This record gives sequence, C-alpha cells and structure tokens, in this order.
Amino acid sequence: MISQRAMGIGGPARPWVQRHRGANRLEQFPLAVWSKLVSRHARNVSRDLMGYGDPMGYGPFREVIAEYLRAFRAVKCELAQIMVTTSPQQALQIAALALLDAKDSAWIEEPAYPGTHQALQAAGARAVPVPVDAEGLNIEYGIQQEGCARVAIVTPSHQFPMGVSMSSMRRLELLSWAREHGGWIIEDDCNSEYDLRGTPVSSLQGLDVDGRVIYVGTLTKAVFPALRLGFIVIPKDLIRSFLDIRNATDTFATSVLYQMAMTDFIREGHFSRHMSRMREVQIETRNALAAAIIAQTAGLLEVVDDEADMQLVTLLPPGLDDVDVAAKLPKLSAAVYALSECYVSRPPRGGLVIGYANLNLEDIPAMLAALKTAIHTSIPKH
Ligand SMILES: Cc1ncc(COP(=O)(O)O)c(C=O)c1O
Repeated sequence: MISQRAMGIGGPARPWVQRHRGANRLEQFPLAVWSKLVSRHARNVSRDLMGYGDPMGYGPFREVIAEYLRAFRAVKCELAQIMVTTSPQQALQIAALALLDAKDSAWIEEPAYPGTHQALQAAGARAVPVPVDAEGLNIEYGIQQEGCARVAIVTPSHQFPMGVSMSSMRRLELLSWAREHGGWIIEDDCNSEYDLRGTPVSSLQGLDVDGRVIYVGTLTKAVFPALRLGFIVIPKDLIRSFLDIRNATDTFATSVLYQMAMTDFIREGHFSRHMSRMREVQIETRNALAAAIIAQTAGLLEVVDDEADMQLVTLLPPGLDDVDVAAKLPKLSAAVYALSECYVSRPPRGGLVIGYANLNLEDIPAMLAALKTAIHTSIPKH
C-alpha cells in the first residue's frame, strides 16, 4: 500500500530512496577519473551537441548500452531500439503512458518496486496486484484475476524487493500469455546490473520472439544517483509511440555531457573495474548486516532473504504496523522504509526494507539500535 507519506502528503515523496544519510557508495566512486572525463568533454564539446539533439539519446552512448546488453544480459537489440531516459523511473513512466490508456489494467508484482505503482497511477491505469512466490510472478493467478490486462510489469532477474529469480517455466508462461492475449511485458531489469550472486540470470527479453517485451534498465546504480541515466529497449513497432510520449514530456534526456563522459567511463574499463569493486563492498555489507540483524534483533526482525541485492527484507513481529515503525526512525545511514510501501493491498505481515547501498559498516550498530527502539516503542503495552 503506498502510504500518504509516499504520495507526498506530509513527508518525502519517495521514502524508499530518500531517507538515508550514508555515503558508502559515493566514497567508493573514482571521482578523479570521472572529473577528468567530464572536463575533457566540457572543454571539447562541439556546437552540434549543444542543440536539442536526438530525442532517443546520444548515439555513442546508445551504442555502448546496446553492446553491454547483448554481451551481459542476452538482450536482443539494435542501437535504433535504445532510448536514453533520465532514470529507470522515467523509463517506466514513458512505457506506461505509451502502452496504457486511462482505466486500462496492468499486472504488478505483489510486492513490487513502489515506483511501479506510481508510474501506473500517473498514467491513470489500474494496478492488478499478482502475488510473487518462490518462482516469481504467479501467472496462473494473474490470468484468473484479469487475463485481459494490457501490461505486466515484472522484475524477473531479481524480484524487487524479495530477490527471487523467475523460473524458466514462469518466463515461458508469461511470454505465452502476452502472445495469446496481445499483452505487453515491461521487464524492469534495474537490479540485475548489480548482481551479487555471481551467476547473473539472463533477461526475459532475450527469450521473446514476438516483440512483446519492453526492457528497462540502468547502468548507474553503482555510480551515483544524481547521474540520471536509464534506458528502454523498445520493440521496433513501438518506437514511434514511445517517441511521441518522450517528445510530449521532454525532448531530450540527461545532459549530453554526462552521456559522453559515461560512454568513455564504460569504454575505458573504469565502469567494469568499479562494478567489481562495488560488488565486493556490497557483499561484505550485506553479510555483515544480515549477521548483525540475526545476532542482535532476535524476536524483533526476521531476515527474509539476504540475496536481494542492495536491499534486505526483514519482517516485524506479527500485528505491528510497519509504516508506524518506519515513521519513528531517525535519518539513518541506510534507506529504511516500510515493506507495505511495496504492496497495493495489505501485506500479510509488516516489515522493513533496508536499502544498504550507502551503508558504512561502522554505522550498523547505531542503525540497529535505532531500529530496535522504534520497534519496541511500537509494540502495544498490555
Ligand atoms: C526495480 C527498480 N526499478 C526502478 C527503480 C528506479 O530507479 P531510479 O530511482 O534510479 O529512477 C529502482 C530504484 O531503486 C528499482 O530498484
């Protein structure tokens, strides 16, 4: 359920990204290299690149994205299909507006990335929550509930926030639903870039032979959030309608200067070196955090899955209101928010999602102390 705070009434508009003060990810970033690349391009920027430019994005950057996706995510794509956006969130928004008319329905995972529901609401569409189990989205449930939905939005590589990968069987069922019902699948692959498991799962888009999958991703989760860069891989028949939405919202995406610098950052190998380093840091953080929670918060927090990248899902004692607990938290080194932010309906049990991308190890004790205080003060006294 998206809380009032999440909807911007009396609090931060996106608590799942805003409520933290940690800096781990930022401290690791090779700032000197980045500054050099940005100034190199700032000095040499040609007049051609100072105009509106191609609304699909800066050509060489799109080329780099296409190469990366073919090599690492088994995505079937050509440069012409890549649209650069300011963020994955904007990509979801453009896709929702291009594919859905007001009042159309769309399956969303229950639980899901909260911004998914926001993108549907902004398009005037209706979210049909479809539960996620150990194999990913329950397609049979979705068909029984609303087989004629126009769109399904899924995170198959790494379900957000639970971390499960969609099984091969479910992937095939979902693709055949889309083929038979004329539905579209939006594959939100944002969390795959940062796969901590060692054996990344290939994209769903790569299995699609009917052009029914719209792929949304980013290469900047490990970089820094202010670098607004996401992208969409659009089936060829839909490029025109996606461009119409892009032009209606804004003609161009992120500054061409940042796209140029990022192109070099990837081509010169800085990106892959940084990613390997960040992967190690994140595994260390995740292991330390999960171990500390298990050792120090018995009976208060239960770790659901320590494989969900960059966020750890924990459950609260039954009956506790997680929005209430989250509201009592001070600003922490990690982004901690109520699990109910990820649900359209009521979650079976409240919990806290701990986004640890910026969490420094030395901040874990203070954070756990704050979590325990917030939970204790939320337990009703008899
Ligand atoms: C699964 C998923 N989709 C979309 C987004 C949106 O990313 P951004 O906030 O960079 O737009 C996120 C961010 O955490 C995410 O985890």
